Amino acid sequence: MRKLTKNLTLVAALLASTSAVRAADVEVLHWWTSGGEAAALNVLKEDLAGQGIGWNDMPVAGGGGESAMTVLRARVTAGDPPTAVQMLGFDIQDWAEEGALADLNLVAAEEGWDAVVPPALQAFSKHDGKWIAAPVNIHSSNWVWANKAVLEELGIAQPTTWDEFVAAMQKVKDSGKTALAHGGQAWQEATVFDGVVLSVGGVDLYRKAFVELDPEALGSDEIAAVFERMETLRGFVDDNFSGRDWNLASAMVINGEAAFQIMGDWAKGEFLNAGKVPGDDFLCFRVPGSQGSLSILSDQFAMFGVTDEDAKAAQAEMARSIMSPAFQSAFNVVKGSVPARTDVPDEAFDACGKQGMQELAEGAANDTLVGSIAHGHANRASVKNAIYDVVTAHFNGEYDAQTAAEELVTAVELAQ
Ligand code: BGC
Repeated sequence: MRKLTKNLTLVAALLASTSAVRAADVEVLHWWTSGGEAAALNVLKEDLAGQGIGWNDMPVAGGGGESAMTVLRARVTAGDPPTAVQMLGFDIQDWAEEGALADLNLVAAEEGWDAVVPPALQAFSKHDGKWIAAPVNIHSSNWVWANKAVLEELGIAQPTTWDEFVAAMQKVKDSGKTALAHGGQAWQEATVFDGVVLSVGGVDLYRKAFVELDPEALGSDEIAAVFERMETLRGFVDDNFSGRDWNLASAMVINGEAAFQIMGDWAKGEFLNAGKVPGDDFLCFRVPGSQGSLSILSDQFAMFGVTDEDAKAAQAEMARSIMSPAFQSAFNVVKGSVPARTDVPDEAFDACGKQGMQELAEGAANDTLVGSIAHGHANRASVKNAIYDVVTAHFNGEYDAQTAAEELVTAVELAQ
């Protein structure tokens, strides 16, 4: 009998400890699956582990989060939402409108988020006055990544204008190397498009056409000129670009097979993960012609409503950790992005990171920051996807530049 009681006590203790561990776990749905992204994710996992919060991983690859959002919808429909979800811009607002997200106001007030998160991000992190997501970073999409040795070998200086960029790519192409490393996926074409719109018409065209969705601006000659530049770029990608993942395109620049990649600063995470040093091995610069303007996006973690008190506590702790200045520095140094808080020093950041932080501050002061079209910070998903469709169809030769501009007007109108 004593033995039985002892065994029962043991079982009970085991159950209690297991459920305690489980309750403090967070299940995190995200799309950080490349080498550089995984390294950044580890910074987060370890930070949480230090506080006794376990990690249940739910990765769904694909930049822009389209596939992750599809999986999320299925999980929520099945009544089994993950506790924490990486999300971008308008997707956060959509879920908030559905009443699916937890209220983080308590932790936000305790930690003073209102004072340190830029208003442009708060517009996405808050809904009806409630904090519903914790921003982990700010990325920008209008960057070019270049292999320094390849440029030196071919006598190419860092291009500062569109024409110089085209001439540089031509030189690389003539040498037999790939000029532009690109992955033919709709979100990657849209990411390139962000920078090209800024290079043609600056923030004025960008806002009129893609934020205000003004039909005249969308169908304008300037937008046709954007598509012409996309066609020029199409002429510099290799034959195998179709379907290639973005990190494999980064790898082509890292290993010297290609000279340039136009991609957000998550690409820097790949270079760093490969042991490359900015300024020595690779260069980072804005899409020529877009200098001074930034198309930005912020990865945020939204917490889905749960009833279990321990799970709620784990969510609050995760949000608190994400927003701590030390974490924002450590994470973003690895991820390639810059902190979502305005009060984090730039000391730990490399040259590209320091440049990004300075440009972000200048952009905020000069009103030259716009939300990324490709990454859900300019429009709701329906409009974003309509733009993807036209941009990618054009890139693959379905329309000429003028027709693409016309198609854009129709597609955007139908999607609203
Ligand atoms: C995310 C980045 C991510 C990239 C590629 C973007 O949508 O904001 O954090 O690294 O996609 O996966």
